[in-house]
Amino acid sequence: HRLELKLEMLEKAGYDHFMLKEIYEQPRSIRDCLRGRISPSEGTVQLGGLKDYDEKLKNANRIIIIACGTSWHAGLVGEYLIENYARIPVEVEYASEFRYRNPVVSEKDIVIAISQSGETADTMAAIELAKSKGALILGICNVVGSSITRLTDGGAYTHAGPEIGVASTKAFTAQVTVISLMAFYMAQLRETTSPTVLKELITELDSIPTLVEKCLATEEATKYIAEEIKDAVSCLFLGRGTGFPVALEGALKLKEISYIHAEGYPAAEMKHGPIALIDDELPVVVVATKTSSYKKVLSNIQEVKARKGKVIAIITEGDEKIKKEADFVIEIPDAHESYLPLLATVPLQLLSYHVALLRDCNVDQPRNLAKSVTVE
Ligand code: AGP
Repeated sequence: HRLELKLEMLEKAGYDHFMLKEIYEQPRSIRDCLRGRISPSEGTVQLGGLKDYDEKLKNANRIIIIACGTSWHAGLVGEYLIENYARIPVEVEYASEFRYRNPVVSEKDIVIAISQSGETADTMAAIELAKSKGALILGICNVVGSSITRLTDGGAYTHAGPEIGVASTKAFTAQVTVISLMAFYMAQLRETTSPTVLKELITELDSIPTLVEKCLATEEATKYIAEEIKDAVSCLFLGRGTGFPVALEGALKLKEISYIHAEGYPAAEMKHGPIALIDDELPVVVVATKTSSYKKVLSNIQEVKARKGKVIAIITEGDEKIKKEADFVIEIPDAHESYLPLLATVPLQLLSYHVALLRDCNVDQPRNLAKSVTVE
């Protein structure tokens, strides 16, 4: 038994939990994911697992992304990036819904299945269905040789390394990295984004691991804020654009490991319902960095404050304006809004981790959850 304990301590490399270790591994895992795939000097992306399908990708009618849970959130980021840079219409589907709703799929469609484990039963069944209708199936998986990697025609590994914590952290940011690479790869093939813009994006992507390191420095702030929200009954997470999937992921992390009810919402949808929940007891976490929707998000914050909600804002460092409006802020480095999910997710992972610790929850193995869901 003692040996087992020692082994576990070694595996955690000095961290109290696998989840924390995996959060801190992200600069490295994103770097590993990018290795050999980008050339910032040339402004190009190479993806060996997609090469055979260049013609199909050039002429694709539509992309359907299928996934579950956190992987589905990575798919939503993919929708923004692929549509914006490669100009291919994208649909993001829950695998469990897709498989049972007689979807319209043809040989002209490309399916991208995203799965950390590569063993999720619903995702596998959705792949089989799309395959039977003739679609090309690409995969984004973390576990090498897993079932999904064997069901797909091509794809790319995330190379995040084993993820032990049940709540996905480094696998998510690696999935987002791969889907960004895929978006740029398709844009390059289809010439839908200028080479100059692509070069700038790829150069910035190369520096993302360093910026993620800076995001880890928000841990002290998240510890402090965790004290403030640990007794909340419910939390609202808001974001717009690429900040919306971040809000969904932030809410899912909090639910999974601290058992506080949380809901992620597109910030502008708040007025269509959730605004009724706002009172002085409700923490509202807002992704409010300097993106194209900054002003709109700022007014969403003011709407929350007018109803006495407690605002916790993720802001671009040095943003004095939101600092004055929000109750608490977490500052992250400035970056292109396409990369917001890679940065803003990190403090939200740390926040849910610290809330869970304060509530004495089992961070690495939350109740009722399994690392890979192999039943439907
Ligand atoms: C994430 O924190 C979850 N535990 C869960 O939502 C997970 O992302 C989902 O079950 C999908 O798993 P997969 O990526 O292995 O397919």
